[in-house]
Amino acid sequence: MYRDYSAAQLEELKKELTAQYESYKARNLKLDMSRGKPAPDQLNLSIEMLTHCLDGDYSSENGIDCRNYGVLDGIPEAKALMRPLLGVADDEIIVGGNSSLQLMYDTIARAMLLGVLGGDKPWCKNDKVKFLCPAPGYDRHFAICESIGIEMITVPYLEDGPDMDMVENLVSEDEEIKGIWCVPMYSNPTGISYSDEVVRRFANLKPKAKDFRIFWDNAYCVHHLTDTPDKILNILEECKKAGNPDMVLMFTSTSKISFPGGGLACIGASSANIKFIDSQMTYQTIGYDKLNQLRHAKFFKNFDGITAHMEKHKAIIAPKFKIVLDMLNKEIAPCGIAKWHNPNGGYFVSFTGMDGTAKRIVNLCKEAGVVLTGAGATYPYGKDPHDSNIRIAPTFPTCDELQTAMEIFCISAKLASVEILLAK
Ligand SMILES: Cc1ncc(COP(=O)(O)O)c(C=O)c1O
Repeated sequence: MYRDYSAAQLEELKKELTAQYESYKARNLKLDMSRGKPAPDQLNLSIEMLTHCLDGDYSSENGIDCRNYGVLDGIPEAKALMRPLLGVADDEIIVGGNSSLQLMYDTIARAMLLGVLGGDKPWCKNDKVKFLCPAPGYDRHFAICESIGIEMITVPYLEDGPDMDMVENLVSEDEEIKGIWCVPMYSNPTGISYSDEVVRRFANLKPKAKDFRIFWDNAYCVHHLTDTPDKILNILEECKKAGNPDMVLMFTSTSKISFPGGGLACIGASSANIKFIDSQMTYQTIGYDKLNQLRHAKFFKNFDGITAHMEKHKAIIAPKFKIVLDMLNKEIAPCGIAKWHNPNGGYFVSFTGMDGTAKRIVNLCKEAGVVLTGAGATYPYGKDPHDSNIRIAPTFPTCDELQTAMEIFCISAKLASVEILLAK
């Protein structure tokens, strides 16, 4: 444990680590672990969707010519394909375009400009609009709020989801709080899934703002890494039971199932919410890309098809997560300088080091040729109050690259920790 070392021992260790670090630096490496992107061999798994799927037949099962305009909420077979991902009925889904993030952005933009179902005015007519942001979280959720001028309130994560005492207190007292970001399964970046109790407490919230919405971004709902996947409760069902059917808006996409940027995204919500969103969305587009919807439906066929496909992803990426976790267990655990979660799915390992070390670790890695997600990115306004969290994204590099990148990461983490301990 580094904490038990004397100053002289720490100085000695610093010398050793610096020498190791310099030898990696001399190799002029260029390794990118900055974003959670699928690797090329994962993208190849879906390539037949582009080459063979349509085969000259462009009609949906109910005879719609998918090459032409129309059908705002998605063709029937695309809805049938996506429904089980969110656990919703046919009138509780809109299959949109290629990006769930865009659907979320558009949903917030419409809420700001026009309001949501049951609201008496657009959100922007309030003096302030605030969102609760469980953190560490997804940087792009926070970036949406920041770009639109929505004030963000950080809520810490506990073992099984956001701190619900804090969420309940804040939403019941402050009418300016209009939403909360949630990544309920294999959360980005913590990797945890919300417990049944957390989901039920969400469904039973009593917000002061009657136009409050839970943004339930289930981006990693089928992205398992083990044979004993996490399971979460269906939030829409729980909201219905609690008499709050319209409080939740759910999102997901096939970005990390088929192609990021070329997948299918959808919104799931109560039928009343969906009707209302449809009525606003009709001015935004005449219809999303139905050819892509058809391709996806023909390629995957059904939920079992998606499940089988995700097994192939798992075979590619689970060994990469193992490399990261083995390295952390071997190199970092004995030093007592950090914590991390062993995720059952998703795309990230969330590393929490000693206070005041995250920026330094990311910089050391960068100087040695390993690009990581910027320190702080996982917090609202890019400000990690402890400067301790780093998101590790293992999927894109090859296993060899990842091994080297993790060697550099571990040396950098040790060096930054020794420096902080010496400065104390
Ligand atoms: C939690 C979460 N939501 C949404 C997205 C982006 O989804 P899409 O590609 O469908 O816009 C990501 C991508 O990293 C993500 O981690």
